[in-house]
Amino acid sequence: ATNRTFTMIKPDAFGAGNAGAILKMIEEAGFKIISLKATRLNKELAGEFYKVHQERPFYSDLCQYMSSGPIIAAILEKDNAVADFRELIGATNPENAAEGTIRKLYATSIEANAVHGSDSDENASIEGSFFFNAFEQVS
Ligand code: CMP
Repeated sequence: ATNRTFTMIKPDAFGAGNAGAILKMIEEAGFKIISLKATRLNKELAGEFYKVHQERPFYSDLCQYMSSGPIIAAILEKDNAVADFRELIGATNPENAAEGTIRKLYATSIEANAVHGSDSDENASIEGSFFFNAFEQVS
């Protein structure tokens, strides 16, 4: 079924000037951009977005990193969007990411891993609504 996922182009990739190339890969893989903005998280907002990870040892560094520069947030639509997008981006750790994936091409570390992709339909909806209001999510 056609459904949606949520992505961020993270500060490392956006700062390095790779946003255009990454969005091109996303569109060429068949994803339709529903909502798109450049914005910036502060530490508090990054902490809220990633609160499911608050007990993890990397949480504080992650919030620092995600607020270190501007990002791009986007809602994407496609058949099987969540799973297909995770395949397009590759493993969290770029050392384990398959050839041709976004993280293999553009990530620099397990933390600065270029892009985020939602891990479920439910989280895609929650994460999309973190950045976009209802009328911004209309296709
Ligand atoms: P993301 O898919 O956005 O979800 C959580 C993020 O935490 C992840 O990408 C990485 O940026 C970061 N992350 C996950 N695991 C680790 C780890 N072991 N060490 C440092 N950062 C991590």
